[in-house]
Amino acid sequence: MSSIKLAVLLVLGLLLAMAQQSMQLSLRNPTAEIQTSNCKIAFLRLGLVFTSDNNEKALLDSGLYEPDSENPSVDIAGRRFHIGTLNNSHIIYVKAGRHSVNVATAVQILLLRFRTSGIVFFGNSGSLDEKMLVPGDVAVPKAVAFTGIWEWKKFRSEKGHLVFGDFNYPENGENLLGTVEYEKINMFTPSEAPKEVFWLPITASWYDAATEALKDMKLRQCYSGKCLPGKPKVVFGTKGSTSDFYVRNKAYGDFLNKNFDAKTADTASASVALTSMSNEKLFVVFQGVSNVAGETSSNSGVSYLASYNAMLAATKFINSIPTPRLACE
Ligand SMILES: *[C@@H]1O[C@H](CO)[C@@H](O)[C@H](O)[C@H]1NC(C)=O
Repeated sequence: MSSIKLAVLLVLGLLLAMAQQSMQLSLRNPTAEIQTSNCKIAFLRLGLVFTSDNNEKALLDSGLYEPDSENPSVDIAGRRFHIGTLNNSHIIYVKAGRHSVNVATAVQILLLRFRTSGIVFFGNSGSLDEKMLVPGDVAVPKAVAFTGIWEWKKFRSEKGHLVFGDFNYPENGENLLGTVEYEKINMFTPSEAPKEVFWLPITASWYDAATEALKDMKLRQCYSGKCLPGKPKVVFGTKGSTSDFYVRNKAYGDFLNKNFDAKTADTASASVALTSMSNEKLFVVFQGVSNVAGETSSNSGVSYLASYNAMLAATKFINSIPTPRLACE
């Protein structure tokens, strides 16, 4: 057989396998059917994304989530997408797991496979500025950035933002680790040529809606007999730093605050932002502060309260968004 014939056969076989797979999927998964028909959908759901078991526990403990009685969930690529209502608003939620690859994958699947009006993320973060954010508070950032994309320079390079020698202890000096330059990230969107970006702004209309919906919000101060020392608050308009490493180092936290004016550090928000922006979808981020970088070690009660308060903020926001309806053609 010629190699061309072989290639044709191979492609045909692949196509057949793909068609079969998508048929199986739509049979097994009625929501896929709902998405592809223009008239059957009466509304768009909001996509709720978080990373951890603790986040999910907060959602379920609240008693506000009600699974759909007919199609409570769909499994795709090992992730479970839960369909239901959150205090009567229609949502789909997914626990994405931590770090950029997992978070971006879950968000992308959600956006491709389900009709959603946008992505609401809630999760935990570390405060980089104790004067502004303490454990139990919720930050609603205005912009987030990946600060873990490094170009690691040679020893004695003239360039680089982060100079390891500045952190030598007890006295600063030269350090073989040299310096690190912070890189921008490629952003791909359907309507523009790929570009390099650093700050990823939260969708302005949703950020504004969040400031309105959450302005007098009461957060929870105690959990199972343990209370935060002060009344937790919502802080708007901060900047958030995201990297695949969680920052528990005070010197580095201070560096991020000083150089980027970042008030929180987490491992997910910028992934949610980049993926949503790539799909030209609305998104917003709520970060429960579970510790102060390098100072307080996060205790599990406080960390849970941070999750719970971020979940409450997300719920309040979601309830404030009118359910967008799709016109039936
Ligand atoms: C749930 O919705 C009700 C009525 O719309 C509202 O009063 C209540 O505050 C909401 N609960 C939460 C936790 O947001």
